[in-house]
Amino acid sequence: MRHAPATLRNRDPILDVLKRVLPEKGLLLEIASGTGEHAAYMAPHLPGIDWQPTDRDAQSLGDIDDAARASGCARIRPALALDAAAREWPVDRADAMFCCNMIHIAPWQAAEGLFAGAARILARGAPLILYGPYRRNGAQTAPTNEAFEGWLKGQDSRFGVRCLDTEVKPLAERSGFALGEIAQMPANNLTVVWRRV
Ligand SMILES: C[S@@+](CC[C@H](N)C(=O)[O-])C[C@H]1O[C@@H](n2cnc3c(N)ncnc32)[C@H](O)[C@@H]1O
Repeated sequence: MRHAPATLRNRDPILDVLKRVLPEKGLLLEIASGTGEHAAYMAPHLPGIDWQPTDRDAQSLGDIDDAARASGCARIRPALALDAAAREWPVDRADAMFCCNMIHIAPWQAAEGLFAGAARILARGAPLILYGPYRRNGAQTAPTNEAFEGWLKGQDSRFGVRCLDTEVKPLAERSGFALGEIAQMPANNLTVVWRRV
């Protein structure tokens, strides 16, 4: 099974936020599930939640299903191919959405598509939970994030650590979301909770 080392560091702090903001029961749509380790670790701790993992990368889907099977959690559904930037998604309703570490490592169109899709499928008040590194008021918050930005730009000039205040918040508001809470996470990351207006 594939392993993303950062998941060991961030999974409990993110899970604490999920426990606080998710509805007691319902369907959570995860975007960009990657290795599936967040689903496999968190879903067993959230007994009322059915977890739908997805990724754009077809190769990840098998990894996600392997991780889900190893977790023994029957509430994790088979992974679906979903490109956040696409106009049509294979899921048309969810009670919450979660996306970890995608909007900086994808073209901006993926963030736009993420909010547009979330606006289509979430009901009023439902949470969209985003985890990752952010700039604040245009500035990097730590040398590690600045170095990471350099690495991202080296991969693809369209990638980059997004600014929560001047880029993501305006996009969220244009898309029909209001800022709920910002939780500080390890290694200068944030979990940001948006609510469908
Ligand atoms: C850095 S990994 C994060 C994986 C996992 N969420 C985690 O935190 O360990 C980024 C993931 O985003 C996915 N991704 C990139 N662009 C995407 C898009 N437009 N729609 C959906 N997933 C995308 C990649 O396939 C990859 O699995």
